[in-house]
Formats: sequence, structure tokens, C-alpha cells
Amino acid sequence: VSDMLVDSFGRKHTYLRISLTERCNLRCKYCMPEEGVALSPKTQLLSQDEIIKLASLFVAGGVNKIRLTGGEPTIRHDIEEICTRLKNLEGLKNIAITTNGLVLARKLPQLKAAGLDQLNISLDTLVPAKFELLTRRKGHAKVLHSIETAIEMGYDPVKINCVVMRDFNDDEVIDFVELTRYKPVNVRFIEFMPFDGNVWNSKKLVSYAELLSLVRSRFPSLMRLKDHSSDTAKNYTVQGFQGTVSFITSMTQHFCSGCNRLRLMADGNLKVCLFGPSEVSLRDAIRSGVDDSGLQEIISCAVKRKKAAHAGMFELARTQNRPMIHIGG
Ligand code: GTP
Ligand code: 5AD
Ligand code: SF4
Repeated sequence: VSDMLVDSFGRKHTYLRISLTERCNLRCKYCMPEEGVALSPKTQLLSQDEIIKLASLFVAGGVNKIRLTGGEPTIRHDIEEICTRLKNLEGLKNIAITTNGLVLARKLPQLKAAGLDQLNISLDTLVPAKFELLTRRKGHAKVLHSIETAIEMGYDPVKINCVVMRDFNDDEVIDFVELTRYKPVNVRFIEFMPFDGNVWNSKKLVSYAELLSLVRSRFPSLMRLKDHSSDTAKNYTVQGFQGTVSFITSMTQHFCSGCNRLRLMADGNLKVCLFGPSEVSLRDAIRSGVDDSGLQEIISCAVKRKKAAHAGMFELARTQNRPMIHIGG
């Protein structure tokens, strides 16, 4: 393992998030504007072979976990094949996806057979009518069914991502915690973050401190669990409950000092920080015939440019980034 993926603050990047598509079968308001976003022409997206080629370079450089994201990763028709080929890379220990769960249930048997280790499913409300309002589509029952299917298939825990927005779903926090009573799920409350086109404002943000005191007041036995140093989540459990509850505090208590993540966008750009505008096209490099050591050099330079931390929430709300649908979280 070289120092290709070590940045100038000594952080080792062992976790690569690969966005498989810019498309999605939902239209969540916190992720994209109503009119949608510009999509790259297909020829500008990474092919399956290019994804595997780049992933193998990252794995050779020390990446041991890959998460597939989107857009919605399950709508890429060759996701099972991609999963199988990634799984065969020597040194890769964990392969995960983050999905909206809409068509997951029927794809899950093949994904599991392909070696999928871990599943994070987005679910922001337990009320069907609110789901339609937020996602501008139907499908709440399908997402719930996918969560049940994932549990039945032995995924433990199934992580449930819930972006909390004031006056939309902050009244459901306790109901979400209740899901952890009898189910092996990890409910993760996520602070709402600003991205292009999602009309973020600080009033809609419900902070970690506020969420924690809300959950504690109803469940006084809530206790802190250990986190991994590079975890996005601060983990808790209510005593006697089967599942766990976590908080992803990107806005009020960022966790950049332990960051181990890099992102490969569907168009082949490497993005070294969720919020950093600095990107470099690995697609163009491959297509112009740059060899492996040249690619490693480009990746290494990008990683060395990574900042110590993001700029703070008010600054982020003012700076241009991509829309979330392109980044995949
Ligand atoms: P695990 O691999 O299970 O730890 O999942 P994850 O939290 O890394 O990924 P997921 O796709 O489930 O994302 C959950 C939330 O965490 C989303 O809101 C992401 O935008 C956010 N998130 C993921 N990675 C990062 C990161 O590197 N920095 C910040 N600030 N937020 C992140
Ligand atoms: N703020 C916080 N989390 C977000 N996600 C999407 N948009 C936002 C946002 N603006 C979450 C999705 C998904 C994960 C990848 O990121 O709900 O679970
Ligand atoms: Fe890493 Fe950037 Fe996220 Fe901070 S904001 S944890 S540096 S990706």
C-alpha cells in the first residue's frame, strides 16, 4: 500500500463511494430541484469496465470498503455485475449500497448473491402522504417492504437514513426510535445539509443537540455506544431495544478530522470532499490513455489537496457545489 490515499493531514482514505448513475426514481426535495437537474450524456458516464479499472487502483492503494450510491444505484441495470466484479478485487473487505429502497426488494436476492455486505435505506417519514409530498412520487409501501425484506435476508443492522427537517418530520422522531424496539435496525437521524437546488435554510435544520434532548426526554435510558473513528454517526441505544439510534451531525459537529472517504462521481470525476468543489476527471485521464502510474499520480495529487475540514454550514450554504443527486451523499 502506497501513500497515494494519505492526505496532507495524515488521513488514510480507505472508503470509496462510487456513484453509479445520476438518475433517480424519486424526486426528494432535499436532494434535487423540482425541475430535475442536467444529466450527463451517456457517453460521458463511466462504463462498467472503467468503474472496475478505477476501483482496482483505489483498492490497490488501500481502499477496503466501497459504497455504491447514485442517483439511485439500483436503477443501473448492471449493478449486480458491478457488485460481483468489485467483490473479486483482492483487498476489498466490504461492499455496501445506499438506496431509496423503491425497487430494492426484488433486486436484493441477486445483490446478496453478488456479495453485498451492507445496506443503508433512506426513509424520512412513516406517513405515506408525507412521503409523496417529499419525494413527489408514490412508493412508501415499497420502501417499507424493502426494509422488511432486508431484515429477513439477514442484514443486521439495516441502516435507515432519516434526514430531519423542521415542520416536516421532526414530529416523527419518537416514532422512528420506536422502530428500534423490536427490529435489528439502526435508525440514523441526519442533519439537513445545503446542496445546490435544495433550498436549505438554517431554520429547517434540527440540530443534534435538539434531537438528542428530544429522544432523551422520552427515553431516559438512551446510552452512548462506541463509534469508529471514521464513522459519520454518533451511536446510541435505548436500553432493552434490539436496534440502535444514531445522529449524523455534519452541520453542528462535523467529523472531518476522522474522514476516510473519497467519491467517484458517475461522470468519472474524483471528489475528495462532500463539500469541496475541487474535482478532477479520471474519466478523461483514462480515455486519453494515461497509464496506471499516471492515474495514481493524478489521484494522489487530488487527495493531497483535500482540506482539513469543510467550511462551516453558513459558508457551505453560500458556496456552489453539485446538487446532492449527483454526489450520492
Ligand atoms: P456507513 O458506511 O454505513 O457508515 O454509511 P455512511 O453514513 O458513510 O453513508 P450514507 O450513504 O448512509 O450517508 C448517510 C449520511 O451521511 C448522508 O447524509 C451523507 O451525506 C452523510 N455522509 C456520508 N459520508 C459523509 C462524509 O464524508 N462527510 C459528511 N459530512 N457527511 C457524509
Ligand atoms: N442533507 C442530509 N442528508 C441528505 N441526503 C440527501 N440529501 C441530503 C441533505 N440535503 C441523504 C439521503 C441518503 C443519503 C445518501 O444522504 O437521505 O440517505
Ligand atoms: Fe470528509 Fe469533507 Fe465530509 Fe468532512 S465534509 S467528513 S472532509 S467528506
